[in-house]
Amino acid sequence: MDKKELFQRMRTFPKVDLHRHLEGSISPDTLVRIASKYGGELPACTVEGLRPYIHMTAELPGFSAFLQKFQVYRGFYTCREAIEYAAYTAVMEAALDAVKYLELRYSPTHFAGPNRFRESDVIEWINAAIKKASEVCDIIVIPVLTISRDFGRGLAEKTVRYVSRLKPGPFYGLDIAGNEAVNSARPFSDLFALAKKSGLHLTIHAGEACGPLNVLEAVTVFKAERIGHGVRSVEDPALMALLREKRILLELCLTSNVHTGVVPSLGAHPIRRLMEAGVPVSINTDDPAISDITLSGEYVAAVTHLGFTESELKAVNLEALDHAFHPDKENLKRRLAHFWK
Ligand code: HPA
Ligand code: ZN
Repeated sequence: MDKKELFQRMRTFPKVDLHRHLEGSISPDTLVRIASKYGGELPACTVEGLRPYIHMTAELPGFSAFLQKFQVYRGFYTCREAIEYAAYTAVMEAALDAVKYLELRYSPTHFAGPNRFRESDVIEWINAAIKKASEVCDIIVIPVLTISRDFGRGLAEKTVRYVSRLKPGPFYGLDIAGNEAVNSARPFSDLFALAKKSGLHLTIHAGEACGPLNVLEAVTVFKAERIGHGVRSVEDPALMALLREKRILLELCLTSNVHTGVVPSLGAHPIRRLMEAGVPVSINTDDPAISDITLSGEYVAAVTHLGFTESELKAVNLEALDHAFHPDKENLKRRLAHFWK
């Protein structure tokens, strides 16, 4: 199969994405459309002009540079409609890429912008837009709450306390993102305990910018059921054994890891070594707009750089489904598992 045929095949191949940030899913194209319709400050007014501000490249990798890209979006959204448009478009684009089940995570604090909207409103707008798009576009989507280490404990506490009081909750899981190398997750541990008590599943960005100890902490202290990235677990055989025994899934994101400088190239990604050690893994996008990728493109990369077969990709999807935070997983499996059997 040549590259074009492979890409077409992967484009229609049904897929699960457990780790995608709404913040990092808004392409330069969508930003320009939002700005022309609803206003909002951007560093450039054309799609081509915006690309260098939004996209990472493999030639200039770096974790801080990657996180810096999100600054373009902060304070950009001028009104409810702009936020709804962004959320709706992100879901529609996933559906067009044959993503059948998506866990879309976002930080309400990010979209609220510096002192602009109420987070409770932001949550209502985004979740309604996600629901509407998923009904129209033949995709199952659930929202996952992200708090950022970098916005400080005060804001995170306010968000988690608000969300934990709501039953049924607007979210199905809690994640912590941001700069693992600078801000420890420790000060947030009680918020994870509170979220868990209120019924939220837990996932934590760990073992990406920092080593395996952070993954161990996420599992043993925070009781995370899945790890965002966790790619550096490969450095510690005892940790891999623990992840295998506890069935903790690593939400791997191939190109993102190259862009943050965690792995030197797609071909050097340790996904296979993790799988061989029996660690459950899934393949995800992380931030499609920042990395300028689609999940289909990530599957093409898995095939061409890492030798994945279609039956391995099917197994990865079934594993992902098994670790979904969906509230009715058995029903979810009944609806979707046939794609990968
Ligand atoms: N790591 C930490 N924080 C993030 C990431 C990531 O890969 N993507 C978006 N926020
Ligand atoms: Zn992430």
